[in-house]
Amino acid sequence: MPRSPIVKILKSESSPGVVHVSGWVRTKRDSKAFSFIEINDGSCLANLQIVADSTLEGYEEAVIPLTTGASVEVTGKVVESQGKGQRWEMQAESVRMLGSADEDFPLQKKGHSMEFLRSIAHLRPRSNLFGAVFRVRSRMAFAVHQFFQDRGFVNVHTPVITASDCEGAGEMFRVVTMEGEEVRLGDDEFFGKPSYLTVSGQLEGETFASALSSIYTFGPTFRAENSHTSRHASEFWMIEPEMAFCDLAGDMDMAEAMIKYLVTDALEHCAEDLAFFDKFVDKGLIQRLEFVRDRSFERVTYTDAVKLLEQSGENFEFPVSYGQNLQSEHERYLTETHFKCPTTVYDYPIEIKPFYMRRNDDGKTAAAMDLLVPGIGEIVGGSQREERLDVLRKNLKEHQLSEEDYYWYVDLRRYGSVPHAGFGLGFERLLMFVTGVANIRDVIPFPRTPGSAEF
Ligand code: 4AD
Ligand code: MG
Repeated sequence: MPRSPIVKILKSESSPGVVHVSGWVRTKRDSKAFSFIEINDGSCLANLQIVADSTLEGYEEAVIPLTTGASVEVTGKVVESQGKGQRWEMQAESVRMLGSADEDFPLQKKGHSMEFLRSIAHLRPRSNLFGAVFRVRSRMAFAVHQFFQDRGFVNVHTPVITASDCEGAGEMFRVVTMEGEEVRLGDDEFFGKPSYLTVSGQLEGETFASALSSIYTFGPTFRAENSHTSRHASEFWMIEPEMAFCDLAGDMDMAEAMIKYLVTDALEHCAEDLAFFDKFVDKGLIQRLEFVRDRSFERVTYTDAVKLLEQSGENFEFPVSYGQNLQSEHERYLTETHFKCPTTVYDYPIEIKPFYMRRNDDGKTAAAMDLLVPGIGEIVGGSQREERLDVLRKNLKEHQLSEEDYYWYVDLRRYGSVPHAGFGLGFERLLMFVTGVANIRDVIPFPRTPGSAEF
């Protein structure tokens, strides 16, 4: 008999009869005549309660030694539960232990700290919290594809290894080969020139948008920034749509629509897991997500945002002034205190933005935008791209980048250049927003941060 996922059984309208389940023991209580075994297979938050009669064949060998963490296979009849809190339970007909669990199985008790759970990243998916986080992660990845596929976007797999620094921030990991203990560099280099792990698929994405009109990438990106914050990881996943025949306004519309779509999808398809987060991780989460789903977002220019911050009377750790990057505390003031909703800041000074962004007619600002959300700050960063050959050449020069290195990018402006725009959504930042989990390390299966690449 094939295995029935527990989620399917618990959602049944009528009893599915005799079925076969497998999973890991969460708890077990023995009484004289019965054992109650709660098993979980990760298909949903809830456990299936198994009632094993002590007269069951093999009871002594299979049921008595079961402890928390052991794996088990059960065949039995699904019946209406006598107990509270669940509709269905299973009357065991046969129980087989697949793997016992040593006494020191660390997830015996509730109430472990997040720091401790990070130190057992190989076991933490078996906890309620992390099971929920990674089910939501999976659903959101699916919803990202659905959002773009439904709108006719083509998914492009841009390279992980690249020779260009898209963001120009120099925060790249170098890719090298070894000969014994020696790193091979210079003429000996594998790719014939310095290569790195990508910080963004955007530049390659632009080449495909210049052929297929609307594309998106969705893959891992890497940044060697030494930031020890709850919002930065060295390896994270980014979704980067790129749209030909699109300007900054269209770009902002698309980013807002995507955030709303993903939040709506989570509310609909991850209701049980979100209710768990609302109760144990971030009270008020669901109400906040419903608000984001239902309300329109705010937009403000960088210039006006700086004015608002200067007039706020807040005592910021980092002072605000025109021409400086907004710090996380400034972003949070705008979304949490001032606008009290997701807010897109646009038209940033050119000095603080990369070479590829389109220069506005004022000569001072770039057609850039960041979408900020309460609790996190920047979740999306994007822009309209410079499509004018002469202006792009000037930008490259001003950023001290050689046109030779970017000849293929420049070519796009020589052969049928079109206005185009795009953005990057940090997938983990989205997950933090949707789950209320406060640290990026806890929405990544095996997080990589400065000083830490365990597992
Ligand atoms: O703002 P960023 O640096 O923009 C780009 O990389 C553009 N090339 C995107 C584009 O226009 N196609 O990064 C985009 C998003 C940020 O808004 C943030 O959500 C996330 O990526 N991000 C990080 N997430 C986790 N850890 C980090 N170290 C991150 N750096 C950026
Ligand atoms: Mg950014």
